[in-house]
Amino acid sequence: MLAISNLNQYYGESHTLWDLEVEVPAGECTCVMGRNGVGKTTLMQCIMGLLPLRGGSMDFLGRDIAKLPAERRAELGIGYVPQGRQIFPLLTVQENLEIGLPARTDGRREIPAYIFDLFPVLKDMLRRRGGDLSGGQQQQLAIGRALVIDPKLLILDEPTEGIQPNIVHEIGDIIRKLIDDLGLTVLLVEQKLPFAKRVADRFVILDRGRLVAAGPMPELSDELVKQYLTV
Ligand SMILES: Nc1ncnc2c1ncn2[C@@H]1O[C@H](COP(=O)(O)OP(=O)(O)OP(=O)(O)O)[C@@H](O)[C@H]1O
Ligand SMILES: [Mg+2]
Repeated sequence: MLAISNLNQYYGESHTLWDLEVEVPAGECTCVMGRNGVGKTTLMQCIMGLLPLRGGSMDFLGRDIAKLPAERRAELGIGYVPQGRQIFPLLTVQENLEIGLPARTDGRREIPAYIFDLFPVLKDMLRRRGGDLSGGQQQQLAIGRALVIDPKLLILDEPTEGIQPNIVHEIGDIIRKLIDDLGLTVLLVEQKLPFAKRVADRFVILDRGRLVAAGPMPELSDELVKQYLTV
């Protein structure tokens, strides 16, 4: 679904991503792993068009999106849940969800009902301010907001960060449901190893901006974990 080739990215003079080759196959969950500061979020922001690239291509469903503005990428069907959720604290839950609607290409301007089936708590809290929700509820809101465009590819950057264990488990179930029942493709950034193993089909490991390993999740060896993931 998404194929990234020879991607390089710089923050000023600082070369952050090096010659990346990443494949995200359709109908699966691909998990980008790696220690703090290796470039996971930078890669997601490059895919969303929020950072300029220094060369490289990104084939999404047969077209190169590397030079398209961020809004166009959303319109083509890429949903994004940023690290730290970034919901609008003073807007209501309903307003937070509606923010994404203009990127729909079918002109529909109401929140799809299946989002409330996935996250019933959002329906109960439509008039509450985003900032008054718990961390777990805000994460559900952030995922719901990314889903209002009915994306084909959903990018989730550390969705379990700072969230209590029962909600973490629920988010894992939701991700599997999006893939297995609704046919989405998911690109997940995750540092919690048990969660990544339970939810993802494939792994990609970054180390200091370079791709160092990739493969089906059952092939994630103890050596790789020790070398690149444990602190
Ligand atoms: N806006 C920026 N300007 C300059 N350098 C940056 C900027 N954002 C990130 N960096 C640097 O780029 C590198 C990669 O950061 P990035 O946030 O992509 O890492 P990450 O893998 O997502 O880390 P974490 O697991 O902590 O979220 C780090 O060295 C970071 O300090
Ligand atoms: Mg990050």
